[in-house]
Amino acid sequence: MVLEIVKYPHPVLKTQARPVEKIDDTIHRLIENMIDTMRQAPGIGLAAPQVGESKQVMIADISSVEPHNDLIVLINPQIADAEGEMVGEEGCLSILDFMSEIKRYARVKVCGLNREGEMVEIMGEGLLARVLQHEIDHLNGILILDRVSSLKRNLYKMRLKKWMREGRED
Ligand code: NI
Repeated sequence: MVLEIVKYPHPVLKTQARPVEKIDDTIHRLIENMIDTMRQAPGIGLAAPQVGESKQVMIADISSVEPHNDLIVLINPQIADAEGEMVGEEGCLSILDFMSEIKRYARVKVCGLNREGEMVEIMGEGLLARVLQHEIDHLNGILILDRVSSLKRNLYKMRLKKWMREGRED
C-alpha cells in the first residue's frame, strides 16, 4: 500500500526515531508499505519517519541507477565504520524542490537487523554509501537541510513560506 510521504517541516522528520524492539507483523507491514511508497515516488531510499512512523526502519534500492544491487531493508541501523569523504548532489522525497551538494563519508559499514531479525553488515561506497547515510540521518531526525549552510537553509524556508501562502500542494 502506498503511504503518504510526510513533508518538511513536519515535526516527525526532526524527531529521533525509536529503536524497534520486536519485529512483528506491524513492522513487516510497515516495510512492505514503505517499499510500495518508495517505488511509486520513485525514490532510491526511504526512512520510516518519512511515512509518519517514528521507528528505526529504513529501506534502500539503488538498482535503477546501479543494477546488480538488491533491495536493502535495515532495522535499527548504525554506522559501524566510515572513511574518506565525497561531495555530491542530494535531494529528499520529504523536501520539495530542494537539491544540494552534501558532504558524506565515501565508504561506510552499516550494521543492523534484516526483516528476519538477523544481524547484517552492509558495506557501501559511492551512491550506496550516500543513501545509507541519508536514511540513517532521517532516523536521527537529521535532514539534508541541516547539512547545508544557514544561508541556503533560510533561502529554502523563505521559498517554502511563499509556496504555503500561495497554497501550493504536494
Ligand atoms: Ni530523505
